[in-house]
Amino acid sequence: MALPSFSGRHPAYHCGHTTPIVSVSTAGQVAPKPTATSTTASTINVADKVYKTDKWFNTPKNVLAAASRKLHLQQDHPICITRQIIQGVFPEPSFTYYNDLHPVVSVHENFDSLGFPADHPGRSRSDTYYINDSTLLRTHTSAHEAAIFEANKSNGFLISADVYRRDEVDRSHYPVFHQMEGARFWDRSQVAGGDIAAAVWADVEALPKHNIQVEDPNPPFHSQRNPMQTAHHSPAEAEAIAAHLKRSLELMVVEIFTRAKAAAARRDAAYKDEPLRVRWVEAYFPFTSPSWELEVYYGGDWLEVLGCGVTQQSLYINAHQPQKLGWAFGIGLDRIAMLLFNIPDIRLFWSKDARFLSQFAGVSEHLESLMPFVPFSKHPECYKDVSFWLRSSSSAGGNLAGNVHDFHENDLMEIVRSIAGDIVEDVKLIDEFTHPKTGRRSMCYRINYRSWERTLTNQETNEVHLEVQKALVQNLGVEIR
Ligand code: PHE
Repeated sequence: MALPSFSGRHPAYHCGHTTPIVSVSTAGQVAPKPTATSTTASTINVADKVYKTDKWFNTPKNVLAAASRKLHLQQDHPICITRQIIQGVFPEPSFTYYNDLHPVVSVHENFDSLGFPADHPGRSRSDTYYINDSTLLRTHTSAHEAAIFEANKSNGFLISADVYRRDEVDRSHYPVFHQMEGARFWDRSQVAGGDIAAAVWADVEALPKHNIQVEDPNPPFHSQRNPMQTAHHSPAEAEAIAAHLKRSLELMVVEIFTRAKAAAARRDAAYKDEPLRVRWVEAYFPFTSPSWELEVYYGGDWLEVLGCGVTQQSLYINAHQPQKLGWAFGIGLDRIAMLLFNIPDIRLFWSKDARFLSQFAGVSEHLESLMPFVPFSKHPECYKDVSFWLRSSSSAGGNLAGNVHDFHENDLMEIVRSIAGDIVEDVKLIDEFTHPKTGRRSMCYRINYRSWERTLTNQETNEVHLEVQKALVQNLGVEIR
């Protein structure tokens, strides 16, 4: 699979695509049945706050435990160092920093306030961790935009935080990851003659220049593909804000990748520098228009680094700041940290092993001393397959036409992760077929068990795998083949 979105890696946030659902009837369904990993408790503690749970609760213990870790605030941790590097590009006091916002937010904050439609797949319980029917673990830092606009402290802000999404299991996906949100805006009532376009262009001129190669083949907005907000902005305003946004984010990428290359060169004298190339791609987000993604050519591939756009005027209006307008972006910190430090597996960020953490000692205070990670061990992998028949969700079952399945792959991923913890490296579908006569559907997944910290014994792996199989039967109603 290609390296997914950096801004949050979830295509659902851009274009309405969702994770594969092996079902005709349940596609778009917003509330699949509870997964078994969710214990039913009447109250629950998340990062020192107590919440009431209900039948929407679907957050396993390992995910709840991660809510107290705050890796982005842990000095000398690669995620924290990455945050510091980006903060350097957007200095205080022009930008107010919000680095300790609680991870539990309302459905309204996470989705409604940003204009997500009621049937958006990101809202589904197979994609999102709910505490109860109106409360969830934020799926992106954009959840805080509305409140910060309303607080009206400065004309810019940065938010860094842990975010949560149900997803697949592999070296670049973890149910908890980190994002940084940035926004910059201008106030019509505060610029000379109310001429926002002129004020923004003056600010563009004041930004540093860079000499990287930028591919930006599309016009600043396009009436069908990437519309400007004609009801609220003049073409000149939209164009000026887009220019300020693009230059600011290009400067951020230059900063990150200059540091990554310098680190690589410090480690390897033979390191060959290639000129940095970036490109702007048109995108869609419910809360920006026009919108873009920024891609960077790195290691022979185009990597999607962030999502951004001109903030929907409705956000400022709802925050009682109708006279403001500007841009916003969101960037995923974990994947950027993986590139910066050459870290091969996202699970390493959660490791408390000194052989990992000690490699970054002192870097928070001396960013110029950043060095790529040196893997301390490579234990053998141990993979095991599990094949099963899906349960048919039609009560009659049997006949081909009526054979409908309610299997969500993320439920399987969650079960494996909550039983195996960080000894699971990846889970892949390796085979599936539908029985030609009965219409029953069979799936086969390969689970790769490997720890960064120790060699797993075959017996231990077998025991874990057996537990996983039991849980799949119990919670998904599948029949092991
Ligand atoms: N929140 C978006 C995501 O997670 C990223 C984004 C932030 C896009 C701000 C536009 C503006 O994918």
